[in-house]
Amino acid sequence: MAQLPSIRISGLGKPSETVAVIFAEKDVKLSDQAVDLIGGDAGFIQRAAKLSEFEGKKSTFLDVVMPEGTAVDRVIVAGLGEAEELEDKDWLNLGGELVGKLKALKIEKAELRFDAPKAGAAQLAAFAQGGFLRGYVFDAYKTTKKDEDEAAQDWALNLTIQCGFEKEAAEAWKEAEAVAGGVVLARELVDTPPNVLGPVEFAQKAADLGALGVETEILDEEQMEKLGMRALLGVGQGSRRPSRLAIMKWNGGKEGDTPLSFVGKGVVFDSGGISLKPGPGMDEMKGDMGGAAAVIGLMHALAARKAPVNAIGVLGLVENMPDGNAQRPGDIVTSMSGQTIEILNTDAEGRLVLADAIWYTQDRFKPRFIIDLATLTGACLVALGNHRAGLFSNDDELAERLFKAGEETEEKVWRMPLGKEYDKMIDTPNADMRNTGGSRFAGATTAAQFLKRFTNDTPWVHLDVAGTAMSSTKNAISQGWASGFGVRLLDKLVKDHYETR
Ligand code: BES
Ligand code: MN
Ligand code: ZN
Repeated sequence: MAQLPSIRISGLGKPSETVAVIFAEKDVKLSDQAVDLIGGDAGFIQRAAKLSEFEGKKSTFLDVVMPEGTAVDRVIVAGLGEAEELEDKDWLNLGGELVGKLKALKIEKAELRFDAPKAGAAQLAAFAQGGFLRGYVFDAYKTTKKDEDEAAQDWALNLTIQCGFEKEAAEAWKEAEAVAGGVVLARELVDTPPNVLGPVEFAQKAADLGALGVETEILDEEQMEKLGMRALLGVGQGSRRPSRLAIMKWNGGKEGDTPLSFVGKGVVFDSGGISLKPGPGMDEMKGDMGGAAAVIGLMHALAARKAPVNAIGVLGLVENMPDGNAQRPGDIVTSMSGQTIEILNTDAEGRLVLADAIWYTQDRFKPRFIIDLATLTGACLVALGNHRAGLFSNDDELAERLFKAGEETEEKVWRMPLGKEYDKMIDTPNADMRNTGGSRFAGATTAAQFLKRFTNDTPWVHLDVAGTAMSSTKNAISQGWASGFGVRLLDKLVKDHYETR
């Protein structure tokens, strides 16, 4: 288990901790509530600010030791800059930055007074969520913790947030914390080493959501064989560990309401198979289940906040390994849809897993839409780097909604093209299609075209999260590598457009 900060909401009161955190707007403007928390002496803080050239700019901090006899021993002043202009995503980042600062100062207990213009329960919740996520550290396998090792220091934060709207704040934080729990679950799964997390273990994680009221079904290889899922099974056949399909159902909406559906690529380790990947960096392919991790994290979030919506999550769980029984380049497999696929590269395995998972999802659930998430192509990383996920869609409205949710959550996406010309690139004389585009070009799009052939014209979005769910960069709310990308994005999409309340 990872370490996580504990965040509590309370009403206004005398500080019970020796470290207080207050906000300053630009030019070190302090609110009355802030001054009250630290015992009434704004002048002392302002003098300290002047000497340290602290101006209250956004994302800057001032650390002040208070004189003896003051209500608190130490005050951390967090700059907001132009407070009225802050958006929810700024509050999220500010919370993350504050927790980063407290960690750097090794402060484990602090009390903050949340008071700023145009900042209510929603902003407080975003702030707290950012702080919570920033505190996530994956240290489950660290038996010794050294101080130099920033990420793995032994540090646990207890943060109390005081505000004048305790009830609304507590409610908003409860929801935001539920979503953060989903993000953390996704991060943990991506961080967990591949020897520990095989398809069977991953499926068990899905089943564990039963505790939140999610119904799960796990299909084993025999059941998938009966359904004709040879595309998915072919990928797993070189592994000692059997494949699984996990199906999760959250029925928070009205009975009979058409469900939304989310499908995740869950390749617990991608060696490339017989088309073996080069050695350097192969360890990173433990993160090739980042799409499935996001889907399970989303289902956790929806269930934990009791979202009034019906949603299905489907995970294709396999390990791509080379052995005597492994799939070969040249093999032709028949997918559940009946379409045949010539395997030209066993390392283009994600689309094979998704082909059957997507077909199964539309066939069984006739969902309102399918959104699949997959660490699908290196080509997407080449195009967009670690900053945006590639978005491919046959539905403009859904694509637009996701784009907007991305800008608002800072889990950003960028729409990439689909088209007949690209579709043709996966034709082959030997079967209905081949699993590569045949050249280095347009690799993210040819992969998406492949998936499109299994959507049966259901409204659909494919998110290529190769650069965002794993090997992600450090930012205000994440230490990097495993980001949990997709959970907040999709939760926001659902909340803004598909809930029945
Ligand atoms: N899991 C990889 C894609 C990937 C690459 C994810 C880098 C994250 C970082 C995927 O299974 C893969 O190997 N794709 C190949 C496809 C090619 C063989 C057509 C690729 O992108 O090189
Ligand atoms: Mn691969
Ligand atoms: Zn892969």
